[in-house]
Amino acid sequence: MPLISLKDVSKLYGFGDATTVALDEVSLDVEAGEFVAVMGPSGSGKTTLMNMIGLLDRPTHGDYILSKKSVAKLRPNQRAKLRRDRIGFVFQSFNLLPKLNVLDNVALPLMYKGIMPVRRLKRAAAVLERVGLADRQYFMPRALSGGQIQRAAIARALVNDPQIIIADEPTGNLDSTSSLVVMELLSELHRTGNTILMVTHNPELTRYADRVVYMHDGSIVHDQHTPLGEVSPLANKARQLFPRRTEEDDLAGVSAIMETFPQKTETAKKRRKSAAKPKRKTTRKAVTRAKR
Ligand SMILES: Nc1ncnc2c1ncn2[C@@H]1O[C@H](COP(=O)(O)OP(=O)(O)O)[C@@H](O)[C@H]1O
Ligand SMILES: [Mg+2]
Repeated sequence: MPLISLKDVSKLYGFGDATTVALDEVSLDVEAGEFVAVMGPSGSGKTTLMNMIGLLDRPTHGDYILSKKSVAKLRPNQRAKLRRDRIGFVFQSFNLLPKLNVLDNVALPLMYKGIMPVRRLKRAAAVLERVGLADRQYFMPRALSGGQIQRAAIARALVNDPQIIIADEPTGNLDSTSSLVVMELLSELHRTGNTILMVTHNPELTRYADRVVYMHDGSIVHDQHTPLGEVSPLANKARQLFPRRTEEDDLAGVSAIMETFPQKTETAKKRRKSAAKPKRKTTRKAVTRAKR
């Protein structure tokens, strides 16, 4: 039984002519302990998928089974509780609260769980040590470098020992040294049994994952297991098309490869044609569903 199981999950935004199909009947099983990288062009639904798995969002259609339990229709407060207990988020631009020092920032999630102050700070200090920021705990966020902020953010994501870690382009804003630190942290979490889902445009980073899921136009078009330490073959192909110079090259490579996959349906093809426009035209299927 997989830890995470999405069953024909769709997510529509807006309605009528302005409906966007952000996820189009996506099914995905993730076993406990997997490190899954997610790649795909801009707008292909990666963030929506992460938000769905991370219980920040709920499917318009379909079901989400987390640890054998359907969570697709939970009420917002039940979802928030589950999220707090099970999931840690690492975003591209992570905001620490500017008026709290690093230690208090990291301890914050524990407050919502009703843990006593002394224990909160002890636990936060331990996690900061783990991310190599023990000597920065009393600093204010503005005194930290970008890489240190990201590490503090990871510490905050880990402080309540989440089983699932969701990282949406965690190294997007970082120089290569800080990226490496962040990746080594994620890698260590993986080794200690956490389940990790990470969006990235950088083919090189698929080395840390044991599986890569490729998205295009709201669908998973390719799903590939690869040994740890190896770049996923398809990501490698993308890299060869656009040898890495910038983030844009990475994106262009992935986009070019994804274009070569057959589309699921005729309507998907139509959507792809209009994808250049800011808002995609609705598919007939989507309209009918939105009305239900
Ligand atoms: N809150 C929203 N309201 C309307 N459309 C949205 C919203 N969030 C995402 N979308 C649309 O859903 C599609 C997928 O977006 P997203 O999941 O952010 O893609 P990615 O992370 O791959 O760039 C895009 O077409 C985007 O414009
Ligand atoms: Mg995104």
